[in-house]
Amino acid sequence: MITELYAYLTNLPRWHIFAIFLIGYLIYYLIEVVKRPILAVSNGPFKKYLRKNIPILEMKFWPTFWCFESRAQTVFASIIRSNMMPNIDYRREVLTLKDGGEVALDWLETDCDSESPLIIILPGLTGESQAEYIKCLVMAANRTGIRTVVFNNRGLGGIELKTPRLYCASNSEDLSEVISHVKKLNPHVRIGATGISMGGLILGNYLANYSDEAKAILTAAKIISVPWDVNKGSDSIEQPYLNSMLGRHLAGSLCRTVRKYDILRNEEFDWDMDVVLQSKTIKEFDSHFTSKHFGYKDVHSYYAQATLHNKLHKIKVPLLCLSAADDPFQPLDAIPIKAAEKSSHVAILITARGGHIGFLEGWWPANKDQYMGRLFSQFFSAALFDSNNEFYRTSQLMMELNLQTSTSVPTTPISRSSSPIRKKSIPF
Ligand SMILES: *[C@@H]1O[C@H](CO)[C@@H](O)[C@H](O)[C@H]1NC(C)=O
Ligand SMILES: *[C@@H]1O[C@H](CO)[C@@H](O)[C@H](O)[C@H]1NC(C)=O
Repeated sequence: MITELYAYLTNLPRWHIFAIFLIGYLIYYLIEVVKRPILAVSNGPFKKYLRKNIPILEMKFWPTFWCFESRAQTVFASIIRSNMMPNIDYRREVLTLKDGGEVALDWLETDCDSESPLIIILPGLTGESQAEYIKCLVMAANRTGIRTVVFNNRGLGGIELKTPRLYCASNSEDLSEVISHVKKLNPHVRIGATGISMGGLILGNYLANYSDEAKAILTAAKIISVPWDVNKGSDSIEQPYLNSMLGRHLAGSLCRTVRKYDILRNEEFDWDMDVVLQSKTIKEFDSHFTSKHFGYKDVHSYYAQATLHNKLHKIKVPLLCLSAADDPFQPLDAIPIKAAEKSSHVAILITARGGHIGFLEGWWPANKDQYMGRLFSQFFSAALFDSNNEFYRTSQLMMELNLQTSTSVPTTPISRSSSPIRKKSIPF
């Protein structure tokens, strides 16, 4: 018996080896990769509403079989979506801000009723309205009859920089102006907002810092792949080698953005553009440029101000967040699960896989209706059309809960840890 097994193993036909490998891979995939996402939310009206009205929350997330590793998801999602999403013919509006700066607002309202709901979308670090993940969301909204407007940050989307000022994650002044402007144009329409990655930080900071203004204008909000704890996120993206390659790619794209603008070069400025353009990581760039540009003492004070994980209790707009547990920009232990469970308005959906703005699913993910877009359109069509006023009533109950909980100020741990990223096992 043993000798026969030995003989078999030593003369294993090649296709047997292949089949054994494939079966092993399949078992691993089914047990370790396909998981039902976790929903971190307080036990209250928001949870009840989401569980009842957003069917995708109950389903397992099936990452693409041959591409579930986090960096692979991040990169392939971008490549595949770039190839399947045609450019969108937006109507461009150039908005002049209070200080004379200009931003481009790109509207998509084809065949939509002018009274139909509207979502303001904020792209990531150097993204603009033709970025593949933005088009994925814009099309998902368009399919459900919701209008969208993409807010391109200063200096992006092909708009010249009129004043020597760009944008940063901790400053929501521009967003506040844009949201008020959009509201003025659409006084009787329900408005939502979505931020992706750094756009999520800007939106989250807006919701926390301008909480009453936000509550008066926005019906619902969503945040995708945000680096909750910016310090931990920037440490994570510097880990060798694959993470740091992604980081270097983004740092390069930041340098290309600022290099274009002579208006940012001046002896009087606190930064030296020749040094800035040498930046190899996002943190170097923020240390040489962004933190000085916005008057912070150093990059750590900038990151401490930009970070979102300790501000959830200030938010008064129903906010659904999508984060992957394996996001290279976002270690799992930085996702504020406990704070979400104590908050009145924040729910975080955590998938075991998905990478950074990845969330690729299906055998060959050529389907335009991807996970990220499906969650987006299910949530916003429920919240913004709200034909039976259930979302409206839920929001009122959430405000009652907020008044009860806001009397007990939550303890916010100061986490400025420079310790190496802990690889906690995924609690699925
Ligand atoms: C948006 O949807 C409408 C149908 O409701 C369609 O006619 C239009 O082509 C869509 N726009 C884009 C850019 O896909
Ligand atoms: C918070 O909002 C106020 C206005 O309500 C603004 O003056 C202040 O600069 C904001 N702070 C940050 C950090 O954005």
